[in-house]
Amino acid sequence: MNFIDLAKRRYSVRSYSDKPVSKDLIQQVLEAGRIAPSAVNFQPWEFVIISEPENAKAFQEVYHRDWFNQAPVYIVICGDHNQAWHRQADGKDHTDVDASIAIDHMTLAATDAGLGTCWVCNFDVEKCREYLKLPDHIEPIAILPLGYPAKDDIPEKKRKSLDDICHWEKY
Ligand SMILES: Cc1cc2nc3c(=O)[nH]c(=O)nc-3n(C[C@H](O)[C@H](O)[C@H](O)COP(=O)(O)O)c2cc1C
Repeated sequence: MNFIDLAKRRYSVRSYSDKPVSKDLIQQVLEAGRIAPSAVNFQPWEFVIISEPENAKAFQEVYHRDWFNQAPVYIVICGDHNQAWHRQADGKDHTDVDASIAIDHMTLAATDAGLGTCWVCNFDVEKCREYLKLPDHIEPIAILPLGYPAKDDIPEKKRKSLDDICHWEKY
């Protein structure tokens, strides 16, 4: 599949089948995150994988959605604010930027592997921190539920047009 087809094929999957995901495929998705670029190559991320059913059940308390509970695997992408690049000019912390690239690599790798996922940021951060026992400098940035999509159809992308978002030569 060429890149643009893959990118168009990825969508937020909110319905998962109960087919288990092999450890090899989970590793393939994690590897895509690992090789993502980051500012100064600091790689300020850690990935927590929750795949044991009893752990998954307890973890589901961080985000109450029926579809979320269907996923057999969760990857919590955490940012390490102590390792991230902070721009000298204004101190901007690039943890979110770097983590987002790793997350996007993973969503595309999941699609490539025939799996589905969905960015989840609207979770209970405190509950997630407590569940994972995270130290203060480690922030849970997003959760990726991972599983086989229950449906085959890919929804049409609703996006602004290039004309609306591009400014050639000047804003
Ligand atoms: C940073 C970010 C946070 C998101 N958080 C959530 C979320 O908490 N729950 C959810 O159902 N979808 C979440 N989404 C999914 C978006 O709603 C979705 O990507 C967007 O509507 C475009 O649809 P598509 O992913 O199917 O192309 C999030 C997406 C991004 C990029």
